[in-house]
Amino acid sequence: MCGIVGYVGKRKDVVPVIIEGLRRLEYRGYDSAGIAIGGLSDGLELRRAPGKLRRLEEVIRERPLEGTYGIGHTRWATHGRPTEENAHPHRDCTGRIVVVHNGIVENYLALKHELTAKGHKFVTETDTEIIAHLIEQELHEAKDAGNALALDEAVRRAIRRLAGAFAIGVISADEPDTIVAARNGPPAIVGLGDGENFMASDVPGILHHTRDLYFLEDGDMAVLKPEGVRLMDFAGKPVERKVQRIQWDPIQAEKGGYKHFMLKEIFEQGRSIRETTLSRISLDSAKVFLSEMQITEEEFRSATKINIAACGTSWHAAIAGKFMIERLARVPVEVDYASEYRYRDPIADPHALGLLISQSGETADTLAAQREMMAKGSKTVAICNVVGAALAREAQGTIYTHAGPEIGVASTKAFTAQLVAVFLFALHLAQVRGSVTEDESRHLLEELIALPGKVRDVLRSCDAECERLARVYSSVTDFLFLGRGIHYPMALEGALKLKEISYIHAEGYPAGEMKHGPNALIDEKLPVVVVATKDPKDAGSCLRYEKTLSNIQEVTARSGKVIAVAVHGDEDIAQVADEVIYVPAAPELLLPVLDVLPLQLLAYHIAVRRGCDVDQPRNLAKSVTVE
Ligand code: F6R
Repeated sequence: MCGIVGYVGKRKDVVPVIIEGLRRLEYRGYDSAGIAIGGLSDGLELRRAPGKLRRLEEVIRERPLEGTYGIGHTRWATHGRPTEENAHPHRDCTGRIVVVHNGIVENYLALKHELTAKGHKFVTETDTEIIAHLIEQELHEAKDAGNALALDEAVRRAIRRLAGAFAIGVISADEPDTIVAARNGPPAIVGLGDGENFMASDVPGILHHTRDLYFLEDGDMAVLKPEGVRLMDFAGKPVERKVQRIQWDPIQAEKGGYKHFMLKEIFEQGRSIRETTLSRISLDSAKVFLSEMQITEEEFRSATKINIAACGTSWHAAIAGKFMIERLARVPVEVDYASEYRYRDPIADPHALGLLISQSGETADTLAAQREMMAKGSKTVAICNVVGAALAREAQGTIYTHAGPEIGVASTKAFTAQLVAVFLFALHLAQVRGSVTEDESRHLLEELIALPGKVRDVLRSCDAECERLARVYSSVTDFLFLGRGIHYPMALEGALKLKEISYIHAEGYPAGEMKHGPNALIDEKLPVVVVATKDPKDAGSCLRYEKTLSNIQEVTARSGKVIAVAVHGDEDIAQVADEVIYVPAAPELLLPVLDVLPLQLLAYHIAVRRGCDVDQPRNLAKSVTVE
């Protein structure tokens, strides 16, 4: 949730390195930013500012600073308001030790009392300040006992006292050109350069300097010096990690000519779906192949139940996944909000399979649900977009969504890639269990291969139409989104996209539930978006569509304004809806990928017209590493 960047090395001016890295990580939090630099004088210099990174840059322009090593941070507030005082980095009382932190120290109040009793004075409301003081206390006590502690030893002793989640970077004026990093929960990576080394909380923060990275694991510490990096565990025992070479192109993480990352990412969906699909399917054999799977075919065959847990947009992919798995593989599926899962003593056992869906692979609630499933004996599969993320490391199988880095806080391309990944999972399960014929499989795979082309067509044909609708509807205060069956989670997703980036109140509802209460909301001011696509070759899909048509009539009879999403060639819908956005037909289980595209574009254009910060909506962060 927060972004960290650190540098030690040969460069004379490290400020631009750290600021540039923070800019690429700003999606992780933008409540405040700060930097601490050392090396050119006896001491560490700090600059901090509330708000976005550009405020920090203004502060640095007014009061420049220079140095040879340093750490920086962009914050998403957890403890303490987003003020300058609470902005990281934080210092101990001597000002010679500085810490940046991502996570939450759960026992910080108890530690604060203990340290206050020993004479420490705290100047912020944050849990992070405790860490700097704890390290200083360790150094101080050792010095009093006649031992000079190295910084890494003091950090090690301090973090053993912490309960909770943390990824930290620490520097000290008394040990120049050194960064100590540690991880227990939130991600931390170390980048290896020539005579210089980097740390960060995510790859884009340092990718423009190096592609060779260590992904620290929970319980790992790293000591970075210009000439090298040492890795060890929290007991000080050396550990070995493989250097991973990252292939992402740094400009993949730039806006590429689009006004916003979100728009660029919406338009990347054809490619991300293709990449998620290819290499996992063979048309010759009509089979789905899932590599990175330590779950045997026998275990897939004998699974009695699938438990899915996820959050937010990924949870919508999970509900769509329930329809896919139950229809294709005929296995019962339960879907939970990951944040609720472990609080209801859920039923999971070695015969059930767990499926966790997460773009970041580091959402704390989803990780907690995974651990709960595993504690009950279930094997788990992760659907995740970030290679090496915690969720994937703990799972017995992973299906990576190859959507590439998603920078816009509102998830778009990762979502449609998740829909495709969960479809592949469902079809694989069905093939192993013999619940689909080879012909059915081949037909679905052919349709899957055709999907990226259809996605591009929809984006090309609907963008201007959604922009026009945004002009009409951008000033309303409420929106309703309706859908039935597998299209209902797409209605939920349309509502979530709109509310999170435009701040318009929006609700998603199963269309058939309207008559049980929400019909009372309908009047001539309420726009109702209805997902009313169908597969004309599928009787079940057509029946569901007929019912949805009746629901549209219930809305228009009460003067509600209906914007329908329907498939090309559907003439009936134009008779009942005020506006229709057309998408190509596809099999029922793949239609959600097409349904959601106009909903993403509508939300985007409405937010732009309302002057909202589309890529970084207020109060949100890209990865949510606290529960
Ligand atoms: C909404 C959105 C969030 C995330 C949720 C889970 O656009 O992006 O609702 O889907 O925070 O995040 P991941 O998928 O990283 O677990």
